[in-house]
Amino acid sequence: MNDRTAYAFGLFGREDDLRIIGAVLESGGSALALGDPGVGKSSLLKVAGQLAQRHGRRVLSVSPTPFEQGLPFAGLAELISQVPDGMDRELPEPQRRALAVALQRAEPDGPEADPLAVPLAVRGLLHQLCAREPVAVVIDDLQWMDHPSQGSLGFAMRRLPVEPERLSVLVGARPEGGARDLMRSLPEPRHDLALAPLDEWAIGQLLRKRFGPRWTPLLSAGGRAGQRGEPVLGLDDRRGNAGWRPNLGCGPFPAASRCCRCRRASPTCYASAPSSWGTKARAVFACSWPPLGASP
Ligand SMILES: Nc1ncnc2c1ncn2[C@@H]1O[C@H](COP(=O)(O)OP(=O)(O)O)[C@@H](O)[C@H]1O
Ligand SMILES: [Mg+2]
Repeated sequence: MNDRTAYAFGLFGREDDLRIIGAVLESGGSALALGDPGVGKSSLLKVAGQLAQRHGRRVLSVSPTPFEQGLPFAGLAELISQVPDGMDRELPEPQRRALAVALQRAEPDGPEADPLAVPLAVRGLLHQLCAREPVAVVIDDLQWMDHPSQGSLGFAMRRLPVEPERLSVLVGARPEGGARDLMRSLPEPRHDLALAPLDEWAIGQLLRKRFGPRWTPLLSAGGRAGQRGEPVLGLDDRRGNAGWRPNLGCGPFPAASRCCRCRRASPTCYASAPSSWGTKARAVFACSWPPLGASP
């Protein structure tokens, strides 16, 4: 893994984090990327998943949503669906059956299973899989994973009798998001990546990639100050952006402004040009508009 890896994957300014992720993919262990919404956790984990495949690891990935948080075993079902068919045949029958019932693959047909049966089954499956090939488990937005899935995975990871290099776990979560038990169960060595806002150079590169070369360092500096470091800035140019100038100031920044296109709330920047210019710029948070590569 060298300094150009991040750039080659379309990421700017995450070289140090990717270097650590590379080490985890090489030797096992875990990396936990913590950061506020929009700072770039999902982007980093997406690249991490691609790198894991390049390292020859089987990737099991899941990105829970707030909706799934209330659905028992939703996260686990997503992960187990990526395990090759038939591997559960080698599990002891009560565990195989308990897992099948928990994942809605079989009707319950007797007394309720022991609460330990599902965590043991998950550990058994992960054990078999790691014995067969190196594995990377990638969990984005851990804060939204349902509790039963967290509990089973935490149990399985804490007690997995495999060589450390056979398992890499890469996780993204919001700092205040909970899931502390699972975080504490992540395999050692565990690396905490506190994702800082992108630096000025990285934001400049990102803006140029999205909007073309007219984005100057001066503008990106304004963008960064205005966005508290969230990297995405968009232009509302429905009235044309002929008046767009690089010396546009940023601020003040309403705490709950909305993206002008996707309408999502975002704790971002609002920058306005004099109305005579007919141009307004607003921070766009996690919004895919304009398409990558479009120029102003
Ligand atoms: N380092 C980066 N390089 C390039 N684009 C980035 C970077 N970090 C974030 N982005 C862009 O910013 C937006 C928000 O990032 P995302 O990864 O979804 O943040 P999070 O998962 O932390 O909420 C995405 O559109 C993504 O493409
Ligand atoms: Mg995300």
